This record gives sequence, structure tokens and C-alpha cells, in this order.
Amino acid sequence: MLLKDIRNLTRLKLSRRQIHIPATPSPLFLEPTRAFAKPRAVQPLISSRWLQTSQRRGAKKKVTLALNDIQQGAIETVALPPQDDAEPRYPPLLQQVRNNMLKFSHCVLVTRVGGFYELYFEHADEFAPLLNLKKSKRKALRGSKRPAISMSGFPAYQLDRYLKILVQDLNKHVAISDEFLNDAPTKAKGEPQYTRRVTRIVTPGTLIDEHFMDPWENNYLLSIHVDPEVFKKEKTVKESPGSSSVSSVLNLPRTEVGLAWIDLSSGDFLTQSTDIASLPSAVARIKPREIVLDSIFQEQDHSRIVSIMQEDGHVITFQEPSQEPLTVKDWIPMLEDAVYDFDTANFTASEIAAGGSLLHYVKHQLLGSRTRLQAPVRHQPGEHMSIDKNSLKALEIRSTIRDGTYEGSLLHSLKKTVTKSGTRLLTQRLSAPSMSLSTINDRLDLVEEMIQYPQLRQDIVSLLEQTFDSLRIVTKFTYGRGDADDLMELSKTIATTSDILNTLRQHASLRNAIPIDYTMAASETQRRQCISTLERRFNLAQPLELAHRIEHAIDEEGLSEYHRIEDEAESEMSDLAQDVLGREAGEEDLKEMPKRIQPKPHMIVGSFKSATDGRDDVHIMKRDASTTLERLHNTLDAMGETKANMERELRQKMGTESLVLKWTPNLAHIAHVKGKDAARATAHYPRSLSSSKSTRSFQVPEWTQLGAQMDETRFRIRTEEQRVLGELREAVVRNLVKLRRNAAVLDELDVACAFAILAVEKNFIRPILSAEPSHTIVGGRHPVVEAGLGEQGRKFAPNDCQLGDKERIWLITGPNMAGKSTYLRQNALISILAQTGSFVPAEYAEIGLVDKVFSRVGSADNLYQDQSTFMVEMLETAQILKEATPRSFVIMDEVGRGTTPEDGIAVGYACLHHLYHVNQSRTLFATHFHALTEMTKDFEKLGCYCNDVVEEPDGKFSYVHRLRKGVNRESHALKVARVAGLPEEAIALAAKVLKQLKGATNGTAKASTNGTHLKGRVDNATIHTQRQKQAMDA
Ligand SMILES: Nc1ncnc2c1ncn2[C@@H]1O[C@H](COP(=O)(O)OP(=O)(O)OP(=O)(O)O)[C@@H](O)[C@H]1O
Ligand SMILES: [Mg+2]
Repeated sequence: MLLKDIRNLTRLKLSRRQIHIPATPSPLFLEPTRAFAKPRAVQPLISSRWLQTSQRRGAKKKVTLALNDIQQGAIETVALPPQDDAEPRYPPLLQQVRNNMLKFSHCVLVTRVGGFYELYFEHADEFAPLLNLKKSKRKALRGSKRPAISMSGFPAYQLDRYLKILVQDLNKHVAISDEFLNDAPTKAKGEPQYTRRVTRIVTPGTLIDEHFMDPWENNYLLSIHVDPEVFKKEKTVKESPGSSSVSSVLNLPRTEVGLAWIDLSSGDFLTQSTDIASLPSAVARIKPREIVLDSIFQEQDHSRIVSIMQEDGHVITFQEPSQEPLTVKDWIPMLEDAVYDFDTANFTASEIAAGGSLLHYVKHQLLGSRTRLQAPVRHQPGEHMSIDKNSLKALEIRSTIRDGTYEGSLLHSLKKTVTKSGTRLLTQRLSAPSMSLSTINDRLDLVEEMIQYPQLRQDIVSLLEQTFDSLRIVTKFTYGRGDADDLMELSKTIATTSDILNTLRQHASLRNAIPIDYTMAASETQRRQCISTLERRFNLAQPLELAHRIEHAIDEEGLSEYHRIEDEAESEMSDLAQDVLGREAGEEDLKEMPKRIQPKPHMIVGSFKSATDGRDDVHIMKRDASTTLERLHNTLDAMGETKANMERELRQKMGTESLVLKWTPNLAHIAHVKGKDAARATAHYPRSLSSSKSTRSFQVPEWTQLGAQMDETRFRIRTEEQRVLGELREAVVRNLVKLRRNAAVLDELDVACAFAILAVEKNFIRPILSAEPSHTIVGGRHPVVEAGLGEQGRKFAPNDCQLGDKERIWLITGPNMAGKSTYLRQNALISILAQTGSFVPAEYAEIGLVDKVFSRVGSADNLYQDQSTFMVEMLETAQILKEATPRSFVIMDEVGRGTTPEDGIAVGYACLHHLYHVNQSRTLFATHFHALTEMTKDFEKLGCYCNDVVEEPDGKFSYVHRLRKGVNRESHALKVARVAGLPEEAIALAAKVLKQLKGATNGTAKASTNGTHLKGRVDNATIHTQRQKQAMDA
């Protein structure tokens, strides 16, 4: 392998005769390119037609290519280097690289050169330091006046490692240019030996099976479609009260947005129609790795949507829209075979546009390799609970607020799943809990069944542990990837799935054997069915046939031996590679290398290794995998015997016991003798190929002939093995739909078992779901805080929550550190868990379906985006007041704390008023503004609750985390301050000031009781602000 690499490297030193001036684009037909609006944005330019003019030694050739004929994008005219007739620009390799760099100007180009991938020119300058690679400079042509060219590379097997840095860490688009051997006629025409063509563009959202992909998470690519016309209209029709200078979707005109997203690694394809106000939350839920937007959004007038997305840290790629708008029918060729009949009527125009743009993009990134996506699934907003962007963050569902880590998040504490795809399903469900009572109850039934039958659960879990990520494995095959290992893993998973099915069947028949007791609750009767329902969804007949075929064909021992050898070679190679690359070695360079780092001879000739080099062959296929393979193996065995006989006869004939027939890299097929045998052999074979003091090698024509035949046979075995492998790959693709469906059932089982384990370990109970807008939670707990306290040996105090007809809003006061924020969050989490289909941390829970969860908690500013602490607070509050419905659940934690107490109280009151009268949502509202409790006295359905501090006579104190009805006006802030370590002098001073302040307010407060003076001011303030706003709007 290495010799080839080195040879390839030396191809840079080319003679003048080999040089040609390759294709240069005609500027006339090029698409104009747009400047990038944002530094992070990248722009793949996709033109539907372009014209290529190729020029060689004065001869001109014009080729017009249709988009489908070529696999490359448009060329940037501006970047084209000036032509110089006097000296040819670059040797073929570099010229091909240069062309590819121009054609894929939005990408980092890595070019395969033998066993290495190389970066050249400015890409080497820019990325070698970031990739920690050595960079060297070299003249393109010997004696050229042109400046030396930078180059830098890494061994091909490390592609994944460097892709990770480029794509995942630096969010770059990487064009992978592979090397193709030109056929003899092409070479004869003076073309170079190799053509280098970009075969794929890898972007953060288009990963397929890269090792650095997170197996526990989906890797989504999302396309957003918004009608750009709406933004034009906005100039005349001002529909939103907010200022357009603030980047919030609320300040954009209300319009429908189409979303379409896919995970290329699993084939998931989803769409959703949403409203612009819900866009950030929908995107936060999907958590895409990359977003594709129409390039019109780079323009000034339309760029606000971009800044909103970028504010949330999303990677955006702009794409020229396809010239013909795509219809749903255009999706079909990208889908798996069974879904030609999916219901096309359901999708909205903007979903279709988003889907079209997405598939258009994917097609260009994969450059012709076909996708077989699953049937598109519509994410119907009405079918799912929407957790707004801030709640997703504030409730720490997938990561913690403080440092964004997975540890400490809700997902982390729930994750009892044992498979990767099961974990992905868990994350999906948790981010979009269900709104369907029957779906939730079905999920809960399965969990309950798994709790009631622990043996069943244990059996299923231990079987699931033996499965592999078949969803991603099968998808790999659809891209023509997937090797013998993947086949083995798939076949094992199919066999294990069959064991799981048998376990479920046994359980179902056991359950059915017990006669139905009609006095039993209807729910119990229903639950008996859940396993049989699941069992019926498996489709195993053909997959099992496939598994048998794979088992019959692949030699597992051979495969692991093959890997051992591969690993060995790889580690030797990697030791060597950096040294070689550091020198950008050509063959001459290598000779000058110190002996110690010169490649070992057997490594150099690795790829030319003869099959008869004395080592035993390693075969990844069993010898009877096909009749041809069996025949070839038999032939080879017979030849082996002939060789052994030949060796024996030669030894006898010449009396040379040490004689061996072998193959060496330098001498090919030879006979080799040692010691005294050397002289004996000379009598029979006088011509020597090489000799030393004690050895001699010579040619035996019969052996040369037989050796060549053996090599030929081994080569045929390899080819036949590849053919059989290809057949198996095809068989996997044929079973794609069934395999994916089976995988989906396994995921559901995994999640159900996980929830069952969780419920048992953490003492969760089954919630009762209803359609009523009410909540009754008795003894509720916060699952994550409880676990945290448990680790310190502390107990969590459970609390009830009863929201609904009688009291729709609970206004909560109490000391600092008494557990208000915890309480707010735990109740939102209990709703989310229940609708996800999990048991919940409470003694009893009756939960009315919640359509949207909203949170306004913690204070965070976003100075970079020109948003102060209070502005962020108001943006989040605005979202809630505009979006919450009577079926929503809102938690508001200390709204108004980012400003003066008076303003804060005013805003807090207005929020309560709006939530109570307009939104009518179930609300938990925590505050330190005690006046609010007085000001809302006339809100009939608002209840005041609080927690307390118990003070001991010796000055010690403790928190009562239990909520009670009433108001607590003491914040005991100084106690917390002291515990936090504020200097005693500061505490003493604060205490003094507090006393004075209290004295002062008592005096005035008596006169203006019940906070009514404040309420009056609030009303004035509201009117004042309204006037100001009207003035602004005018
Ligand atoms: N129900 C509970 N049982 C036991 N400990 C609790 C409970 N609730 C909260 N705690 C503990 O108290 C700490 C503070 O809780 P939390 O932040 O909810 O208080 P808070 O009332 O919101 O305070 P502040 O007014 O300062 O925001 C938590 O980190 C947790 O350790
Ligand atoms: Mg708090």
C-alpha cells in the first residue's frame, strides 16, 4: 500500500510531456454568486446547467452537460486564477485538485492520493494547523518560477478522525475527492493515470455512518420553508406589536412555516407545518445538526429569520432554490420501495416546499448515491405536546442550564434504555410527548405489564442488550456501504429479535390462558392485549431467511482473524505515516530517511502481496458460501497438495531437506535452500537468483507455473467472495422495510422496559390521564433534584398540586432556597413524563392533557444579540402571553425581577392578569413581590401558597419545603447570604438597612393597604406604555 502512496506522491514530479491544461469554465454561463451574509453561513451553489470548456494544447472542446450528467456544482468565476500561456499551470494531480477546489468553493477539499488524503494550496495553509498536521511546501514543477504549493495530508484510514474535526467541530463542508484509475484508452490519449472526482460532500447534517456520529442521538438535517413574500408585505402591514429591531419571531408577521427533516443514518423523514411564532421551539425540539434555508434569506430584508436561528447556535446552509418547484411525487425516488403509496394529500404547500428543498440538497451532497428514506411522517402539532424552547432549556430536559451537559438532565436520569436506537426514541418522545389519550395509555400499559412481570422484563432487556443498531446498519446498506461485520451484526440482531418474539409469544399465551374475569377493570382487560399487539407487528419470516444466508456465508472466525491482521498493519502504518508525511516523501526522500523510519519491505509491497507468500489465507466467507467458491477452494486445496508433493519430490531428488517453495516480493516464486543443501541444489539448478553464504534461491519452472495458478485461484476466490457479499447486501436492501419495522418495535420495547425499571427503582406511579384542563398531583417530587439529594443522604419533601376548576393559578411566595423553583419545575416535568408514557414521581397523579408547556425561569442575558437581562425576560414572557392556551401549563418564576421592584410588580401583575383572563392556562407563579398576593385578591380562581423557614431559639434555622396555603412575606434572604459566606460586616449592615426599610414601608403601607396604591400605579403605567407604543407605531 505504501509504495503506491509514495509513488503517488512522486507523481507530483512530472515530466513536461504529461502536462495538460484541463477544463476551465466559460464565464458566460456561470451563475452569479452571492456574498455570504453571515460568516458562519456557507453556500453550496447549485446551478441547473453549466457549460464546460476544456482546452488542451490549443484544441478546444465544448461540452454542455445537464445537471444529472454531472455531479458537481457551479464554478465561481471570481476565484479563477489568471491563465498564463507561457508555462503550464499545474501537473495533472494538482490541476484536478485546483479544479475541484473551484467547483466546490464552499467546501474544504480532501483529495485521495494513494493511501492518503491530502489538502493542497490555501486549504493546507488554513487547515493543517487546525488539524494538527504538518505542512510542507513544494514546487509544482521542477524549476518553475511559480511559488511553492502548500500541502498536508493524513492516512486514508484516518479520514473519519479528520472529518470529525472539520465537520463536527468546525462545522465545515468537506468535499471528498476519490481517485479512479483511468482505463488504457483514456491514458493513451494523454490523460493522467488517475482521475480525481468528488464523490461526496460531508456536512454536519449529512452524516451516514461516520464513526464520530453520536449513536445515541439523531443526526437531523432540517429544511425550513417560509414564503419570502410575507416579509415584503410586512413593510406595509404591521401585524406585530413588537419592534422589528428585536430578533424575535413574535416580531415577524404571522405566517405558516413548513419544516422537513431527515436523518440520513436511519432514514427517518419527517415534516411539520407550524407557525412562525412556534418556529424556534420546533427547531429546538428537532435539534438539527444543520439547517438548509433558501438563499433569499441571506438578503438584508429577509435575514431576521436567519439571525433568530443563529442566535440559538444553529448551523445554516444557504441553497439556491431549485428552478422547478418540487412536488410530493418528486420525493418518491428518494424513498424506500414500499412507500410509493403514502398519502400525498396531507402535506401543506410549505411542507412540500421544505421537503423538496431538503431532498434537492441531499441529492447534491451525496452526489448521485441514492437514499432510501422511510415514508415521510407528518408531525401533527395537535398530536404532540409542545414544549417551548425555553422550557426545554429551563426544565433541563436534554441538558443542564448551567453547563449544558447531559449529566444532570432529565434524560440522563431517565435513561435506562439499553440500545442506542431505543435511546433515540426515548429522546424523541421526551421532546414531543403525546396528546393522544389512547397512545399514552397504550404506552403506559406496556410499562405496567413490564413492571408486573419482572421476569419478562429481565428476559427482554438481556436480549435487547445483544442486539445491534440495526436501523443504522440497514440504512448503511442502502448507500452501498456496509461490510461483512455489518452483515454479521444484522444477522445476529435478526436472530435475537426472533428470540424476543418467542419470549413475547410465551408471555401472551400465558396471559391468555388465564380466563378473563369480567369483573376486572376494563383497563386490566385492555392491558392484557398490549403484548399480543406488539407481537403481531414483527415481520420475521424473510429477515430470518436472510439471517440464515448470512450465517451460512460469512466465516466469523476468518473475519476476526482478518481484523486482527488489519489492526496490526494499521498500527504499523500509523507509526510510519506521520514520519513519511512529515517529509512529503517521494521515493528519493524516503531513501534519505534514517533507516529506523524507513518502511519495512513487507509493508511497502502490501498491496502487491502474492497469495503464495507462505502465510495461510484468511477468508471472510465460508468455503461453501457459493458453489463457485466451493469449487475454487477445492481447486486451491488440490494445488496445495500438488505443491507439497512437488516440494517433497524436489527434496528427495536433490537430497535437500531444507528446500521450501515460496514467494518473495523481489524474486516471486522460488525454491529456497539453506546450508549444505545450497551446493546440492546447484547441481540440478545451476542458475541462482540470489545467494548468500548459507542460502540460495533459484527458480523451479514447475513451481513458478503452479504458483501463478494458485495466485489466480486465490484472486478468483476474493472476487467470488465480493460477489457473494454484494448479493447479501442486495438482500438486505430488499428486506429494508421489514428490518426497519422490526427495529422500531424493539425500540418501543426498550423504552417500555426502561420506564418500568425507572418506576420500580424510583418509586414512580402510573398517572391517570384525562382530557380535562386540570391537575391533581399528590406527593409530587422532582425526579432529578430528588436523586441529587438522595446522593447526599437527604430526603426530598413531596408536594401536592391541584390546578383546575377551583384554582387555575397558584401564586407561590416564600423564603429564598425554600424550594419554589423546584416545585414549579417538578409539576411541569410530571406532565411531560406522563404524556411521554412514563410513570411519574408522585403518590397519585391525575393529569389533564397539556397542549403546551411554557416556562419563564432563570435570568440570562444575551448581550451579544443586543438583549439585556430584562429584554430576554420580556421576550420569553411575550411568547407565553401570546401563545398559551386554556389547555397549556405555564410556570413563571419571579417575572419582573430584572428591573426595579415597582416596574417588576407592575409587569408581574399584568402577566398574572393576562394569564388569568386571557390565556386561562394552568399556571404556577413564584414571586418575591408579596404585593402581588394582595393585588390579585379578586382573582377568584387564584390560590396563594407558600413555604417557610423554621427558626430555632439558638439561631439555627431550617426550610420547610412543604407548601401550605397562604402567603409568606419573609424572604430570609440574609440567612442565605450568610450561608453563602457574605462578610459578617456586610450582613450586619444589610440587617440594619432592612430594618430601616421595613420601618419606612410599614408607615406608608398602612395608608395604602393591600397594595392597591401599587395597582393604581400599574394601571397608569400600563396606559402610559400603551400610549408610548401607539406613538412608536405611528
Ligand atoms: N421539596 C424539597 N425537598 C427537599 N429539598 C428541596 C425541595 N425543594 C428544593 N429543595 C432544595 O432547596 C434548594 C433550593 O430550591 P429552589 O431553588 O427551588 O428554592 P427557591 O425557593 O426557588 O429559592 P429562590 O427564592 O432563592 O429562588 C434546591 O436546590 C434543593 O436542594
Ligand atoms: Mg427560585
